[in-house]
Amino acid sequence: MYRIGLGPLEASRGAPVDLLGVMQDLSLAVAGKSMFSLEIDSFGPQLRGLLLIFAAGIGRSRASDFILPRWVPTVTTVPRARFRQHWRTLIQAIIARRRASHSPGAQRDLFDLLSESYEDREEDLLADEVSTMIFAGHETTGLTLFWAC
Ligand code: HEM
Repeated sequence: MYRIGLGPLEASRGAPVDLLGVMQDLSLAVAGKSMFSLEIDSFGPQLRGLLLIFAAGIGRSRASDFILPRWVPTVTTVPRARFRQHWRTLIQAIIARRRASHSPGAQRDLFDLLSESYEDREEDLLADEVSTMIFAGHETTGLTLFWAC
């Protein structure tokens, strides 16, 4: 049986641990399991790595974002495009794993509802929805658990 737990904390036996990482992994596991019936933990390091890159620089709003039309290149154009490509590849890998691991008779979940809404015609929109739910559904919860601890 799949067990969502606090393995790294239990294993640390009092040694220092990266509590934010543990809480984000935990909330990612809950988000993956509850919304997509998926053991998503193995994607955790990649997801967190990309989110750190995003939060550390290219995700921050700049004056040029508001002043210039979107087609005008700025210093963030290339890094943001590269990030988008990496992020999309990762989300597509998550979607592919979900599709491969789910048996037809299994209980329906949020992924089934989203898939049916887009009827497999609009893969990009489906990927956007999955991105939003994974990001919004675990980052905030992980931070809240971290600060609560
Ligand atoms: C402690 C937990 C959470 C906190 C503090 C939190 C906080 C927030 C805040 C402040 C916003 C932005 C609202 C706005 O500016 O309009 C937001 C948006 C959102 N949250 Fe949460 N949230 C939490 C958990 C969750 C969870 C568990 C989910 C999904 C399972 C979720 C899904 C969303 C979505 C879909 C949005 C809209 C994102 C968008 O605009 O694209 N949140 N949340």
